[in-house]
Amino acid sequence: MRCKRTVKIIIDIAMYLIFVALMQEHLWSDGLHEWLGIVLFVLFIEHNILNFRWYQSFFKGKFTATRITLATINIALLAAMLCCMVSSVLVSGKVFAFLNLGGARFGRTLHLVSTAWAFVLMSLHLGLHLTSLTNKLKKNKKLLRAGQILAVLLAAYGVYVFIGRAFYEELFYLTEFKFFDTDKSAVLYFFETVAMSFPFAFITYYGRKLLQMKKNKMKIQGGTMNKLLKSILSLVLCIGCVFALAACGQQNNTTTDNTDTAVSNNTVADNNTDDSADSTSEESTAGDSNILVAYFSWSGNTQQVANWISDKTGGELFRITPEVDYTEDDVFDRAQDELNSGTRPPLSSHIDSETMAEYDVIFVGFPIWWYDLPMPVWSFLEEYDLSGKTIIPFFTHNGSSSGASSISTVAELCPDSTVLTDDYFTYSGNNVDEAESDVDEWLTELGYKN
Ligand SMILES: Cc1cc2nc3c(=O)[nH]c(=O)nc-3n(C[C@H](O)[C@H](O)[C@H](O)COP(=O)(O)O)c2cc1C
Repeated sequence: MRCKRTVKIIIDIAMYLIFVALMQEHLWSDGLHEWLGIVLFVLFIEHNILNFRWYQSFFKGKFTATRITLATINIALLAAMLCCMVSSVLVSGKVFAFLNLGGARFGRTLHLVSTAWAFVLMSLHLGLHLTSLTNKLKKNKKLLRAGQILAVLLAAYGVYVFIGRAFYEELFYLTEFKFFDTDKSAVLYFFETVAMSFPFAFITYYGRKLLQMKKNKMKIQGGTMNKLLKSILSLVLCIGCVFALAACGQQNNTTTDNTDTAVSNNTVADNNTDDSADSTSEESTAGDSNILVAYFSWSGNTQQVANWISDKTGGELFRITPEVDYTEDDVFDRAQDELNSGTRPPLSSHIDSETMAEYDVIFVGFPIWWYDLPMPVWSFLEEYDLSGKTIIPFFTHNGSSSGASSISTVAELCPDSTVLTDDYFTYSGNNVDEAESDVDEWLTELGYKN
């Protein structure tokens, strides 16, 4: 019996840790991500077999408020986990790709939303087990107190991370893309995700306590109530402190990253609305400037930023144009297929090598596509000899405000150039109309403003 309980706990902890690790999708290769997901699935089945008695006794006994709450969380978690697994098969690019099931777009949406919910529900579920942990610790008052303080601090930090990452947007499908900060180390990212569990665990932990008090018809004696109020108050105070510290930190931060919040529903504008002279030209000339502003833009957001950069620096505009346009019907799948297979789409616009040699500085603009650089930009960067030039990336996004892997990809593709990997410009595509003053500020800081 004791052994079964230990196995159950080990499986639960392993499931949680694997799930959190899988949430840091950008740190895994596709194949590894999928195989680890399969391990999680096996553990999940094992977990359900070991807890089968819970299902057997589901309709037995009285449905108290506590029981209804627990059952709702557990069933919702079960549903979310099943959705995660079904959607993983639909979006699989490696292990289950041979099934060719289709429905990748639906699968991606389902995967984004269901993993977010599974994480929240798992955290709520964890909170239910906190009572037995604190009961065990009660024997050692000092350890209990230290644990409580640590938990409160982590919960406060978790709230901060939850808001900073705009995690609520994933829960309610307000963004199509998950937030990744590729500048953060894997360990810190993992720690932050675990911290995000704490506020949810607190909800069920204290909620359960309150329900039990009610159930036992316990008079809420001053002492008990005081303890509860103290815990809640200290949590609120800690959250306040974390936000105050973060606000101070942000004031000193001179980064150009203006938009950590993703915005909903990317409206696809006409991708052929470029009225600048460069867009369809086979070749372009350098003119007087030693600055080139080369950009790829599908729905117009990055183009707008490129236009401002060109206006303000006097740089020559150059639009990177693939021979075959991406259409509304194929853009998502084609972009992902090209990225997965490493396809470099041929371009229809080119700069002759002599002209290119005259540029010293190249601003390279692009939208984030599948957490990376769109493949036409790979084609562009590989086409020319960019050695010795300064490459300054700028991009728009719909959630991946740090550019996910795109900046390191640019650096890899331009090994002999000086790539400004820290001083890039990033802006949310949906708010791009408001970006001009930020572009101004960024260019002034870089010293490229006319
Ligand atoms: C195929 C495709 C993939 C995308 N992938 C991401 C992504 O991984 N992360 C993100 O934040 N936004 C993503 N987006 C949203 C675009 O980066 C965002 O809307 C950008 O502002 C579009 O710029 P554009 O108008 O210059 O094409 C994607 C958009 C498309 C069409």
